[in-house]
Amino acid sequence: MSDPLRLGIAGLGTVGVGVVKIVERQAELLARRCGRPIKITAVSARAKGKDRGVDLSPYAWEDDPVALARRPDVDVFVELMGGADGPARAATLAAIAAGKDVVTANKAMLAIHGQSLAETAEAAGRVLRFEAAVAGGIPVIKALTEGLAGNAISRVMGVMNGTCNYILTRMDSAGLSYDDAFAEADGLGYLEADPQLDVGGIDAAHKLTLLAAIAFGARVDFNAVALEGIGSITIEDIRRAGDMGYKIKLLGVAQRTGRGLEARMSPCLVPSTSPLGQLEGGTNMVVIEGDSVGQIVLRGPGAGEGPTASAVMSDVCDIARGIRVAVFGQPAHTLDSAPPASAASPACYYLRMELADKPGALAKVATVLGEAGISIDRMRQYDHPGDNAPVLIVTHKSARANLDTALAALPGTGVVMGAPVALRIEDV
Ligand code: NAP
Ligand code: HSE
Repeated sequence: MSDPLRLGIAGLGTVGVGVVKIVERQAELLARRCGRPIKITAVSARAKGKDRGVDLSPYAWEDDPVALARRPDVDVFVELMGGADGPARAATLAAIAAGKDVVTANKAMLAIHGQSLAETAEAAGRVLRFEAAVAGGIPVIKALTEGLAGNAISRVMGVMNGTCNYILTRMDSAGLSYDDAFAEADGLGYLEADPQLDVGGIDAAHKLTLLAAIAFGARVDFNAVALEGIGSITIEDIRRAGDMGYKIKLLGVAQRTGRGLEARMSPCLVPSTSPLGQLEGGTNMVVIEGDSVGQIVLRGPGAGEGPTASAVMSDVCDIARGIRVAVFGQPAHTLDSAPPASAASPACYYLRMELADKPGALAKVATVLGEAGISIDRMRQYDHPGDNAPVLIVTHKSARANLDTALAALPGTGVVMGAPVALRIEDV
């Protein structure tokens, strides 16, 4: 059997400890499958004395992850600290400069610095792998870069933040308010240290950035993602959308259109009966559409010790087997600067508003929509105890610009109370 592949692991939190456990528990299986043993030689974290539930005494300890990355007895630097900058980026660059391959789960670092890190790694002849950075245990990076390499991808979309999906499904199934569902997710330890990364859609947008680069050969550009979180979703919208046959999901969509590359992460309505509509709790789902394969749906755990470490090990095993794929599926310097689409593609929209319950109110709203070029598909008015009537409208496909024109004009009718809610209905 060949020489062992020697890992240096920086970061011994949820994911790092999960990787240590797999390397130890599955040593024989990994050696058989990879044709060589996988061994950990050195580890690093902030607090050396912390009880992490695993015996780290067989491994050398480094306080400084950069020193770990440069160790001569490390072949692969496994970065599991997190953070877009700071030690994660410094140690990744140090590892590449020292001739090591790198495996990371760090979507924040890659979404912001992935382009330059990939170019640096490829210029140095090193691989940089990140299966665990997108959708946890779902092997979506491998699916896109390898399994679907023969397809022109037309769209990639999905639910990629388990915390948001948990909050939205708890609001739906248990009738919780947003605040109560958020508190429940917090109590279960689901939220990132900065919860805005989850509920603001940033974490999911990091992941979509990486998928868009691979799927469309576009330069890695986090700023190209139009971003909106779930903080304004109310239990009322969840219920009303349900009445119309939809679920609300924080949905990421990337597609190349005639107007440029469209990438958005926002709360959308999807049919309740669709696979995305039926996705419950903290689970992730990625839907990929290719010209030859058609549509495929990948579903699984998007986070947690076992699933995320499983994805890290997939990258480690590829390196052990000598499989070397360009970071984003093609050499990073060939990724093109796809101009971001100037506007989102046309869609049907869900509109919810409170109308003064008096003669002619609905007609005024219909006139505003009609003058903006928006056609109504369905409409429903609910019973109401007070003077204002809750009204739901589902539009036919319209351009977002037309909708914005109508939304700006609605207050001028004098019959619309407060700001209407407008959510995109995604064709899935
Ligand atoms: P975590 O539990 O917070 O662990 C982070 C680890 O990094 C800790 O062991 C910490 O040391 C160490 N660390 C932080 N700063 C360091 C520094 N300056 N020098 C040395 N070590 C340092 O994080 P995690 O959940 O395992 O996540 C790790 C990475 O995986 C992140 O990029 C995250 O986005 C990504 N990821 C996580 C999940 C998940 O389910 N958790 C899923 C997908 C991707 P101490 O323990 O001593 O404080
Ligand atoms: N905060 C992320 C989520 C963790 O909720 O999906 C995995 O990236």
